[in-house]
Amino acid sequence: MPEYIIRARQAPTDAGQFLRAVGTSAHVEYLAQIMINTLFVSKGHRKDTTLTLVLEDSRDFSRAISLKGESMGSLPGLTETGLLAVIAECLKAAANLEKECTVEMANGIQIQAISFEHLIKARVQNQRVYLLDKKGEDVRDLELEQSAVYILTDHIPMPRKTFKSLRRQGVRNISLGPTMLHASQCVVLIQNEYDRRIAVD
Ligand SMILES: C[S@@+](CC[C@H](N)C(=O)[O-])C[C@H]1O[C@@H](n2cnc3c(N)ncnc32)[C@H](O)[C@@H]1O
Repeated sequence: MPEYIIRARQAPTDAGQFLRAVGTSAHVEYLAQIMINTLFVSKGHRKDTTLTLVLEDSRDFSRAISLKGESMGSLPGLTETGLLAVIAECLKAAANLEKECTVEMANGIQIQAISFEHLIKARVQNQRVYLLDKKGEDVRDLELEQSAVYILTDHIPMPRKTFKSLRRQGVRNISLGPTMLHASQCVVLIQNEYDRRIAVD
């Protein structure tokens, strides 16, 4: 199952601050758009897809919130407000989480107190990991393994030193074409590549 990891560097891990950040320069509302475009399709959801949102504006540890398509039927509709409230609930439940510990919500969403770097280190051990980069290899020239992981940022660019560190770990940069897109648009294009290839196979 493909996993999309979104690094949201200005997204608060405090539930109240998170909700108050809607419409500010932190742009947490982008996360709702990413949730819709990654996990939902017309009249259903993508059962084989995972979305992990890494919120980094924290007093202690980043929070990685993993939503699995297979359990998304339990979400309260697709409004931006409703989806951001789901994230806020997760943050509340994970408020006192110890480093690298995980809590699971009743609807299957898991929240881990872990840094982006540690999360990626765990993934590269046994999965192919790609970093979305306009200047990378063309997605159409690649195999796209079912269990691949795709790393994206929100509106804040990935720091140069992270680019280098990811490359050292074997992460490959892939491009979706010459236009700079929103992360929520990127996931649609990748899912479309999977849809078309599976349909042809
Ligand atoms: C809005 S962009 C980030 C914009 C940010 N200002 C920057 O310059 O990187 C959000 C994410 O989409 C990815 N992205 C946008 N367009 C892309 C493209 N054509 N190919 C691959 N990745 C793309 C970026 O790499 C980033 O991870």
